[in-house]
Amino acid sequence: MKQLSPTSNNIKISAKELKLGNLVAFPTETVYGLGADGLNPIAVSKIFETKKRPTFNPLILHINSMQMLNKIAWLKEKKIEKLLDKFWPGPLTIILPKKEIVPDIVTAGLETVAVRMPNNKIALQLIKELGNPIAAPSANSFGKLSPTTAEHVAKQLSEKVDIILDGGSCNVGVESTIVKITKDKNYLLRPGGISVEELESVAGKFENLNNENKPDSPGQLKIHYAPEIPIYFFDEEKIIENRYKNLGGLFFRKSKLEKYFSSIKILSQKGNLNEAAANVFSFLHEFENENVDMIFVETIEYSGLGNAIMDRLSKAVNKFR
Ligand code: TXA
Ligand code: MG
Repeated sequence: MKQLSPTSNNIKISAKELKLGNLVAFPTETVYGLGADGLNPIAVSKIFETKKRPTFNPLILHINSMQMLNKIAWLKEKKIEKLLDKFWPGPLTIILPKKEIVPDIVTAGLETVAVRMPNNKIALQLIKELGNPIAAPSANSFGKLSPTTAEHVAKQLSEKVDIILDGGSCNVGVESTIVKITKDKNYLLRPGGISVEELESVAGKFENLNNENKPDSPGQLKIHYAPEIPIYFFDEEKIIENRYKNLGGLFFRKSKLEKYFSSIKILSQKGNLNEAAANVFSFLHEFENENVDMIFVETIEYSGLGNAIMDRLSKAVNKFR
């Protein structure tokens, strides 16, 4: 791990690291982020691996311009433009309908993406040098405190991150406020650096969507993606019973049962968990487009990213129990 001062040359070096698909921790005005190239699904999988998150929470894409915003999301409501004009760059994250270019692993399979333009020169310069949005959660291990200095990051992630850009301490110190705006309603998903009162002065009343049982993670609430098509774990008897239907097989590597399936997708030929994580949501979406009748998924070993993949698959399977 290298802790670098944020000279323009070091920011260039950091952007290169991101281009290679590696992780860089960087300062924002709220907390330090653990960044990856937001359009590279394998790079994004390393975020989950490094944070040891047992689930896939959708991530925020950090942008440096409205042009970049238009590349990744749809801006449909005038109210949203008013909020962005007023609060960007700054600690406001907006949930917007995503464009095709955004990898499914960034949004955990959702059709929406969280976006924010941070108010920090180092972060903005890094995004500019990369030329892509940076996907970044707070740069802490799962369940630990969010880091507001480079030292906090080093203490938790020193062995796991290639570069930490040291921008001193974060001046806001709490995470961004997360909102979702529809035609007739405004929702607050997470309170943060911008107060509701400030938001309401620009966009009218906000409803709190944050008071369910897991307050700190809207990503774990009802919004989770699950396929429309019945999905089950591999069960040889059940597969044979249904062999005259159109079966989709989501395999980790390969299987002797292949002959029963009309469509087969292999998460990783080489058995690589990063690749499997990067593919899992896209493959489920593809099965939906192919109109298979049922999906059978192979279980994956519960180690490293395997935990997060199995967590997500179990949630999908539970829906059809
Ligand atoms: O200030 C911040 O927001 C910091 C800095 C690094 O930008 N980032 C941060 O990221 O707090 P993270 O991953 O710790 O929190 C992002 C939150 C998660 O609770 C996630 O569930 C939610 O944003 N989120 C992301 N995409 C979403 C979506 N499409 N719909 C609803 N919630 C979403
Ligand atoms: Mg966090």
